[in-house]
Amino acid sequence: MKVTKICCIGAGYVGGPTMAIIAQKCPQIQVTVVDLNAERIAAWNDEDVNNIPIYEPGLSEIVKEARGRNLFFSTEVDAAIDAADMIFISVNTPTKTYGKGKGMAADLKYIELCARQIARVSKSNKIVVEKSTLPVRTAEAIKSILDNTGNGVKFQILSNPEFLAEGTAVQDLLQPDRILIGGDTTEEGQKAIQALVEVYANWVPENKILTTNVWSSELSKLTANAFLAQRISSINAMSELCEKTGADVNEVARAIGMDSRIGPKFLKASVGFGGSCFQKDILNLVYIAKSYGLHEVADYWEQVIIMNDHQKRRFSGNIVKTLYNTVSDKKIAFLGWAFKKDTNDTRESAAIYVADDLINENATLAIYDPKVSHKKVLADLDYLETRATSVNAERVQSFGNPYQACEGAHAVAVLTEWDEFVTYDWQKIYEAMQKPAFVFDGRNILDKTSLEKIGFVYQAIGS
Ligand code: UDX
Ligand code: ADP
Repeated sequence: MKVTKICCIGAGYVGGPTMAIIAQKCPQIQVTVVDLNAERIAAWNDEDVNNIPIYEPGLSEIVKEARGRNLFFSTEVDAAIDAADMIFISVNTPTKTYGKGKGMAADLKYIELCARQIARVSKSNKIVVEKSTLPVRTAEAIKSILDNTGNGVKFQILSNPEFLAEGTAVQDLLQPDRILIGGDTTEEGQKAIQALVEVYANWVPENKILTTNVWSSELSKLTANAFLAQRISSINAMSELCEKTGADVNEVARAIGMDSRIGPKFLKASVGFGGSCFQKDILNLVYIAKSYGLHEVADYWEQVIIMNDHQKRRFSGNIVKTLYNTVSDKKIAFLGWAFKKDTNDTRESAAIYVADDLINENATLAIYDPKVSHKKVLADLDYLETRATSVNAERVQSFGNPYQACEGAHAVAVLTEWDEFVTYDWQKIYEAMQKPAFVFDGRNILDKTSLEKIGFVYQAIGS
């Protein structure tokens, strides 16, 4: 079967970039991305491609090339589902905030709504592809809904998890380490797998396209994220030990990373990992393990989250301690709010939790992030529901200019590793700050020697 029309439900961080690349690389396939959020779709359709809702280096150029040719963004969900022969589900699967599994299990409400919608409007056979990260065996639930429509339409369900990382989405999609496709072992299942393999084969070498059964594919995604997050928690655990012993975590990371069995990537100690995936997926894994009675497995992975929470709290605690045990009414400048550089995404960003702790200590915060708006900063803090929203608004200001944010500050805290922070005129920042002027580098990106020469009291993670 040759795919000619693709529909993607969900125009978010996964659906938007993934479909833009498929459209660019497969001009013969019509790709329609739909979303219930009319504002988001309008932004994807904005005449000025610089206004698309997701910032990713290189993405706007690709959207510009394909949009209107074979890439479309629309709110007409039913029409796009009906027309497509392959439907990707890329909707959000947040951690449940209610009921059984609250704070741990993935909330599959949006996935189920999608499945029901597909079942309701489909008049011809379709391949349904799970793109969102899902708990293992979700495909079973989707299948059960789709197979009971009573209108004779046949569905094949594939799992095709996305491994892109934000900030490098375009590169990750153009040159993926691997593409994973899980499907049924039946003949129809294998045909469906082949149809999706052919889509990717337009630009990905076939030896990088891996096919498995559905459950292996679903679980591989959770496992990959758990292993990556575990590496960060492992090096962060060592960072605390380094601070006590006089070892330097960057040197330790370099030394162990040269062991080819360990490898150098994902060993950067930091204020803690953030992002929409790591915590959510590990909690999910923990929940699944518990639900099968595998308590040792659950506890093992939960420790990765416990360590990450500790690292964030340790960072804010250290700021308070170093500023003579009080930050009350002191101004702390934050460089960065996004969960990593080159993205405007702030989901689970360490900055949010560090800010929350410091506001509890009555600090005032001055935020500068090149891609995050003040509205977003306040929304992130309000979402925690730690205090009245008016207090957050009073305590937190954002600036469009880093020098203004740092003016009169007692301390600067680096929360995101934006490249531009390294290039600042730190002498100028120093002169405008209260003395002694402190820098807490939560990303280990600044040069200790030159900052100390200027006069800063500089503290990095793990040294
Ligand atoms: C992650 C996975 O990398 C990706 O494969 C998956 O599809 C989605 O989840 P993402 O969350 O976009 O991607 O970013 P990633 O680069 O993995 O970083 C996650 C967090 O870990 C960030 O807060 C980052 O700053 C932090 N990090 C990363 C470290 O603190 N140290 C490191 O060495 C690497
Ligand atoms: P991700 O990072 O997984 O891409 P996002 O939250 O950025 O997650 O994007 C998911 C998108 O899916 C949101 O824009 C949301 O409006 C959309 N969405 C959720 N449910 C549906 C649905 N039933 N139909 C269409 N769009 C949906």
